[in-house]
Amino acid sequence: MVKIAPSILSADFSRLGEDILSVSSADYLHFDVMDGIFVPNISIGIPVLASVRKFTDMTLDVHLMITRPVRYVRMFAENGADIVVFHVEADEPDQIAQAISEVKACGKKAGLSVKPGTPVRELLPYLNDLDLALVMTVEPGFGGQKFMADMMPKVEMLRREIDCRGLSCELEVDGGVNPETARVCIEAGADVLVAGSDVFKAADRAARIAQLRG
Ligand code: DX5
Ligand code: ZN
Repeated sequence: MVKIAPSILSADFSRLGEDILSVSSADYLHFDVMDGIFVPNISIGIPVLASVRKFTDMTLDVHLMITRPVRYVRMFAENGADIVVFHVEADEPDQIAQAISEVKACGKKAGLSVKPGTPVRELLPYLNDLDLALVMTVEPGFGGQKFMADMMPKVEMLRREIDCRGLSCELEVDGGVNPETARVCIEAGADVLVAGSDVFKAADRAARIAQLRG
């Protein structure tokens, strides 16, 4: 069954603990980090992650939308991330490879993401070393945007590649996921669906999470 990862970007940060408890039936908790350079927005970082880690046993799926992630992956891994995901566009290939190695050296899972304008072939050289591949279905930076259905060929291509190579790499999508678009993502082969605004605006979040699983 597909996994659901509510994004706390859409939570109320003044009552973050309560909001995390309200989505505890989900599989992962998605934690969006933005540096104001890689994306035109600034969100949360290491001190918040450390607090969240103490509060919950949920798997923390940390999505770094930061430039030159190799500088910080170790800090995120050591401060509570279970999966550290960063962007292939964020640095030179040798530095991306180095960042993957550093996450794994910390005993954590490594993920790599592509923005909508980046072809999946950019991910392929790293695929054998990845625990997760993330296809963005919105331009990263903000919650509540419209799902880009034209990203589905990228999901299908990665699904084929992961299966052909016999990898255990999970395939995640992020942005604009709701019950309708979730179905499209599952059909394209996604394993993990990130959903921010759709889950947090729901009156019954647990029911919404179940609905997104299809
Ligand atoms: C966007 C973030 C997403 C965002 C998704 O840059 O990476 O994780 O929170 O929000 P929704 O589900 O509202 O599109
Ligand atoms: Zn995200």
